[in-house]
Amino acid sequence: MSNKNDIVMVSAVRTPFSKFDSAMADIPSIDLGVMVMKEVIGRVGIKPEDVDDLYYGSCVPAEYALELDVPARQATLLAGFPAENISVTLDRACCSSLTALRFGVMSIKAGEAEIVMAVGSENMPRTPHLAPGLRKGVRLGHIKLIDCLFELGYQAKGFNPVARDAGEVALEHGVTREMQDAWSLGSQEKYAKAYADGKFKIGEELMPVVIPQKKGDPIVIEKDESPRKTTLEALARLKPIYGSPTVTAGNAPPISAGSSAILFMTRKKAEEKGLKPLATIVASISAATIPRDIAVIPAQTIEKALKRAGLSLDQMNLIEINEAFAAMPLVSTKLLAQGDEKKWKELRDKTNVNGGAIAIGHPVGASAARITMTMAYELRRRGGGYGVASICGGLAQGEAVIIKV
Ligand SMILES: CC(C)(COP(=O)(O)OP(=O)(O)OC[C@H]1O[C@@H](n2cnc3c(N)ncnc32)[C@H](O)[C@@H]1OP(=O)(O)O)[C@@H](O)C(=O)NCCC(=O)NCCS
Repeated sequence: MSNKNDIVMVSAVRTPFSKFDSAMADIPSIDLGVMVMKEVIGRVGIKPEDVDDLYYGSCVPAEYALELDVPARQATLLAGFPAENISVTLDRACCSSLTALRFGVMSIKAGEAEIVMAVGSENMPRTPHLAPGLRKGVRLGHIKLIDCLFELGYQAKGFNPVARDAGEVALEHGVTREMQDAWSLGSQEKYAKAYADGKFKIGEELMPVVIPQKKGDPIVIEKDESPRKTTLEALARLKPIYGSPTVTAGNAPPISAGSSAILFMTRKKAEEKGLKPLATIVASISAATIPRDIAVIPAQTIEKALKRAGLSLDQMNLIEINEAFAAMPLVSTKLLAQGDEKKWKELRDKTNVNGGAIAIGHPVGASAARITMTMAYELRRRGGGYGVASICGGLAQGEAVIIKV
């Protein structure tokens, strides 16, 4: 039964997700954020001044440090939001744009806001190298440069690269390198089919990125840049990365730029504005566990979200588990199946049905909102139902949302 106090998504959009060497790699994440902010409200005729709160996830601070700080505040002002608009930049690693949504839901439930936007924006390939110590000067010797994109781990503080933890824990759960490669091939094939079927078309989930050139026509990017044709044999030949026993360039997502945004409000407000909901947000929840268990946390977060919503896994028509690596959907669906092989297969079959980050790309702060909208649009194509989307974030944080169409 729908209720006037339900919180509903009314608009959801993202840029294409770029490859490493892309024209998009020169656009600051702040400017990518501006693009989705304008588009997500423009599509439904909401004005910037109607948005009460804006939560903005971005988790590679070294990139937006080129523009100093508060990317949310800078992006809202550049997007034409009034000076009075309230925004927050937040960093919960890859979870960030679902954390943004969860904070927005809390804000509406608390009566603090009526119309909220959750944004995620990242430009990983633009991340500069850091030169610590230069401010004091280098009296003698070489200058040290740090690439904080390299290994995407937390080694400076003694934690493992995420790829290593994910690979080791996957093996402990009986999820082999071969299984991870097979999942990755499936991700590429499912995306290719979905794309051929017109599912990733401009005007729905996607908006174009138009990049003016000094001379000649602008570059227009209208589709995700990383999907590729591959084979199990080619995948098997790749060497593991970052000290992981199983993770390779083939069963990991690429390093990407991209932005995503979701606009949501109470059903009552949507009716007042004459807007048709895309989906109802049934529950949004966070979790965390020991850092090594990053491949496990999506399962734990999904269980927590289902409990909160009073729903069962069997009631979920679709599942999205972000392919931080292939290990994550495999380990997490296996745990959710609780040792039942048939059930595990059923869960895998309804997880990431249009492919995932391995094919699409993973601009970390933007991916959580991406999996949510990909699932919402697919539920709509299927005539409705429930879906749960979950994502892991650095050092085994988790975020999940249950939606109903
Ligand atoms: C894995 C990673 C290091 C690869 O970076 P890269 O070297 O720039 O990537 P490339 O696309 O050039 O791929 C490397 C090689 O693998 C090959 N390759 C990549 N995907 C492949 C696939 N699906 N099938 C076959 N070969 C593939 C490439 O052709 C390339 O081969 P070459 O060296 O012979 O040219 C980088 O993408 C990465 O760090 N990803 C993980 C990101 C991450 O951790 N995100 C956060 C998760 S929490």
